[in-house]
This record gives sequence, C-alpha cells and structure tokens, in this order.
Amino acid sequence: MTATDPAKDSLVVFTPSGKRGRFAVGTPILTAARQLGVDLDSVCGGRGICSKCQIAPGSGDFSKHGITVAADALSPWNAVEERYQQKRGLKPGRRLGCQATVQGDVVIDVPPESQVHRQVVRKAATARDIRMDPATRLIAVAVQEPDMDEPSGDFERLRAALLESGLTEARTITADLRVLQKLQPALRKGKWEVTVALHQPAGSDQAKVLDLWPGFYDGPLCGLAIDLGSTTVAAHLCDLRDGRVLASGGVMNPQIRFGEDLMSRVSYAMMNEGGAAEMCTAVRAALRDLAIGVAEDAGVLPEAIFEAVIVCNPVMHHLLLGVDPVELGQAPFALAASGALTFDANEIDLTGINPGAQVYMLPCIAGHVGADAAAVVLSEAPGETEELTLVVDVGTNAEIVLGNRDQVLACSSPTGPAFEGAQISSGQRAAPGAIERVEIDPETKIPRFRVIGSELWSDDPGFAEATEGTGISGICGSGIIEAVAEMRMAGLLDASGLIGSREATDSDRMRPDGRTWSYMLHDGRAEDGPLICVTQGDVRAIQLAKSALYAGARLLMDEVGADSVSRIVLAGAFGAHISPKHAMVLGMIPDCALDQVVSAGNAAGTGARIALCNRAARVEIEATVGTITKVETAIAPRFQEHFVNANALPHATDPFPELAKVAPLPNVSFNTGADRPNRRRRRAS
Ligand code: FES
Repeated sequence: MTATDPAKDSLVVFTPSGKRGRFAVGTPILTAARQLGVDLDSVCGGRGICSKCQIAPGSGDFSKHGITVAADALSPWNAVEERYQQKRGLKPGRRLGCQATVQGDVVIDVPPESQVHRQVVRKAATARDIRMDPATRLIAVAVQEPDMDEPSGDFERLRAALLESGLTEARTITADLRVLQKLQPALRKGKWEVTVALHQPAGSDQAKVLDLWPGFYDGPLCGLAIDLGSTTVAAHLCDLRDGRVLASGGVMNPQIRFGEDLMSRVSYAMMNEGGAAEMCTAVRAALRDLAIGVAEDAGVLPEAIFEAVIVCNPVMHHLLLGVDPVELGQAPFALAASGALTFDANEIDLTGINPGAQVYMLPCIAGHVGADAAAVVLSEAPGETEELTLVVDVGTNAEIVLGNRDQVLACSSPTGPAFEGAQISSGQRAAPGAIERVEIDPETKIPRFRVIGSELWSDDPGFAEATEGTGISGICGSGIIEAVAEMRMAGLLDASGLIGSREATDSDRMRPDGRTWSYMLHDGRAEDGPLICVTQGDVRAIQLAKSALYAGARLLMDEVGADSVSRIVLAGAFGAHISPKHAMVLGMIPDCALDQVVSAGNAAGTGARIALCNRAARVEIEATVGTITKVETAIAPRFQEHFVNANALPHATDPFPELAKVAPLPNVSFNTGADRPNRRRRRAS
C-alpha cells in the first residue's frame, strides 16, 4: 500500500469486487486499483489517452460499506479529462481512473467495459463464461527520444518503455524485421508515442510485438476461433478486446473431394504421391478464404486479425500442418506432435490477415482423439461435475468424452458423414431449404416438416410463400434423424431398421424401391422440385452412424463400470440441432433420463473461442489433456460387440419406454423376397 499519513488516509472501496484499502490523499484511483488487485483496464499506462480506466464514483451514504462519500471525495475534473471529453466524450458520471485522485473516503464502481478480465456471458445456463485475458493486447507507451549521450536504438527504448509500463509481465520482448522497418517512422509520426499489439502467451516471460501504430491506436484487434472439421470448417471472428463474436462463417472442407471420411483421406495420401500435399493446399486455401470472408462480414480489415486458434481432429491437424498422416492410419497411431503448437500464421499460408498473426493449436489427446476433443473438454468441463456426464460432439467423426470429478475419458468414433446429410439419398448440408424437423402422424402416416429458413411447418398456412425464396431442396442431418425416428414411432420401420411395405403399413406414402421400400416425405416434382424420400439405404446409413456413436459411448462407460450416465450433452454444429427425444428413439445415445439430455452449441468451436480469449485456458487444457484417459475405438475388441448390439432401433437395451407403446407393424409383408421371414423374426414387438 502507498506510504500513508494516518491523518490523511482515506478509505477506497471498489465495487463490484468489494476490495478496499486506505490510501494517501492524492493517490490516483488507477494506482489504488492496481495495489489492491482490482481489475481496472489501462492501455496507455495512465497517460490519459486510452479511456480504458473509466470509473463511476458514487456519492452519498453507503451504509453497507460504512462510508459517506462527500462531493469532493475525488480531485476535481482535470484538463486531461476535459480534453478526452471534448474529443471522444465520456458517459455521464464517469471519470478517468488514472486522473482522478483520492481526496476522501470514496466508493468506486468499475463498470464491466473497464475490466480487463471481463466475463463474456454465454447463453446456455450450464455453459462456462469466458474471462477475457487474450494473448494479444494493445499497449500504448511513450518512448524516450534518442539522445547523443545515450546511443541506444529506438527498439531498445520501446522495449524499455513496455517493460516499465506495468502492462506486461514479459522480460524479453522481440519483434520481426517487418515491425522494425515500421518503427522509426511510427515513432516520429506519433511524436514518440506508439501503440503496439503485443503477443504474450500465458506462463511465458517472452512477448513479441506483432504490429505497431503511431500515437494512440484503438482500432479493431481480432482473433479467429476455427473448428476445422472433416466435412465443414466453421470460424468465429472475435473482438479480442471484449470477446464479442463479430461474425461467424462456414465452408465445406474442400478435402471432401479426396475422401468423405478421415480414413479415406489417409488412404488417398498413402495411395497417391503428393496426395497429402494436395489436401494440405486445399484446406489452407479454404481457411484463407474463410478468414477474409468473415472479416468482410464483420466490416473489419483482414489485417485486424492477429490470432487464430484452430481445433481439429488428428488427421485434419496433420494435413493442415503439411505432415503426412500415414502414421495415423495404422497402430500405434503416432502423432507427429501431440502438444499444443504456436507458430506464425504465414507458416500455414494463412496470409491476407495481419502478417504478424499467430496461430495456436490445442493439444491432441491421442492418435485418434484430437484437439477438437480437447476443445470440447475445455468448453464443457466434464471433469468439474459431480455427476457422470457424457459429451458427444457429433460430426463425421464423433468426439466422445465421459467424466466427472474423479476421471475423464475420451475417444473418437468414426460415425461417417450421414449425420451431416452426406450419403443420404436426398441429403444435403444444413442450409436454407433443407428439411430439418419432421413429424409423422402415427394414424395417417402423413408427415409434416420444417425447412431451414422458415419457422412454419409444411401444413401451416403461408408455408409455400414462406419458402418461396429457398424452395425445399433436400434433407439435412437433423432432418434425417427425426425422419427415421418418427418412422419408427409411427410403425413404418421395424426394430431391425427395415421399412415396411405399402400393404403392411397401410400407407400410400410407401414407394417400391427395387427390393425395398421408401417413404415419401415430399413430392415437389409438379413444381420442378425434388422428390424427397427416406430410402432403405438412408436408414442403413443412419443405423451405421448411430451404432458407431453408441458403441464409442458404451466403450467409455465400460471403462468406468457405468451402465447409464447422469447427463448427456449433445454438441457439435449439428449436435446442437438434434432433438434429444429423437436421438433417444434411435438409440444414438446411452440410457439417460430424457430431461437430462441437453443440446450444447458447437462445443469444439466454443472451446477454440475460450482458448482465443483466455490464454490461461490454454495452460489449463494443456495440463488437463495429460490427465485424460484415452480409449482407442479402432483396437478395442468390445467396440465391435457394442457396434453390432447397437444396430437395432433403439439399441438392444431399449431405453425408450414410449416405444413400447408403438404397435408393431401389422401383417408385415416386405418387398424383400427370400430374407423376409428372418427379418420379421428380428422385429421388436
Ligand atoms: Fe489510459 Fe487512464 S489509463 S486513460
């Protein structure tokens, strides 16, 4: 605390933290805040330039704190504040904490926007908030002018000013040649004041100047959180000053043309010379375009992007880094590097953004369990819950995490692209015009549906007008899941997954389709639109995908000796849209009370966002990954057993009591010829 004269001490109480201390008259509020560890921002080190230190002093009686605050408890409004007020304006009742000094007992409120480590509140009640503490910050400093008697370089004096500012804990500060080339003109133009974008990883005493501007700069400082999936690539552009998501965008992963799932891409790399390099080039170009696209959407220059945090599975990880993934295709699935990585963005051709931009990649958990699973752990924090929580991040590859305070386990399961609408006869990715919700009347067997882009159901008045712009183009992942589950509940599909005939189901929606039957969801042919059916092949693709997901979850449950879980979080861009009820009807997930099955957003993407906004979270997940038990589905003998048992709808243990009420198919006759009796025997009653 400041050296004090008891006769002149004043009590300063900060809210909302409640921190309090006695300070000598004349102490700046910013100094008092720093000494008490109060979270009050400053970019300019107290020179009255940045306005980040704004405070709201109280006045009157504060019985809760035992203080009466006099009108003159702070020093009078000064010329620096007046200059700032004239130039940019301060909100009514606000003062600059670096200018106002203590004159008497006072209560000081620190508004959220003045807190360095402000919380970014996420919408879901169960989700954790993000505490702002990014690796890259803006710092404005006054640099000592050169002197004939003190022949040091401009960069050395800039470094000294940064170290003395109290705004970085770094001991070593470096800069690329590109930054040095800008330094002298910037210092002279800014009259020896300069603002730098300083990148300092948590726990490191090294920092790097990524860019600089003459004088005081408070322009955009952005970062990208990228979830690089096998099928889709999603990016959130975040403001690194307050954590706001400025824009989000997504593209299909262009590697799809080399193979739809991970193993087919590994095979492509093995079978084709230069194949890995081809896939590397394709995905890097997609990331570049996506970064520039989201910056455009947000109305900021791409040069304002200083960081990117990327999460992905191990194969995507290697292909992006330009590492041949061949070792990941065979036991023991050795990664080239499993730890977190930090490097210059231009090393992966992520150009067009700020040339100094840094990339951080979360650690991989194991050869089949990637940085995306680590990001799910960071986002959903299953290791912090009492109850056994299962998190499934559903995509072409499902990341599955099971845990509680005692232990956390993770695996990844090859679900294939069916959940993302691929390998489905009328499938498409989730885009306007795609059927995303389906209901089938169990009596009439007539469906109603909703498409992305409209709130109306297909039998609502005005539906045709509402979908005029998009049309009805196909069915996306959540739509096909609901359609298959609804078919099962309406008695159009038996427990083995066989679609009933027109005669057996008494529905003229059933259409013969070779030796099998299809169920017609929508016939748009009269308007030149598509005929959208659920075929036997579609049901089989969903069965394979859901069996892989279920088997992966069961494998983790076996490891902890659990038959059920307390809570299930369905995550992933697509997982967020799955109806828990339909997932349960299909037996995609293990037994759990239905009201304990919740949908989270894109948990891997959120994990990337947390790591982007909070550098301590990077240290946390790097440590946590070392404690996670990895389970390899590819070599676990029980995976096959669970997979086979999970093929029925729902799975063999039938956790969904509602289905017991569904009448079996009456007098089923299938259009399947000789194998009909066997299939009928397998049907659940
Ligand atoms: Fe920058 Fe007060 S700390 S204006």
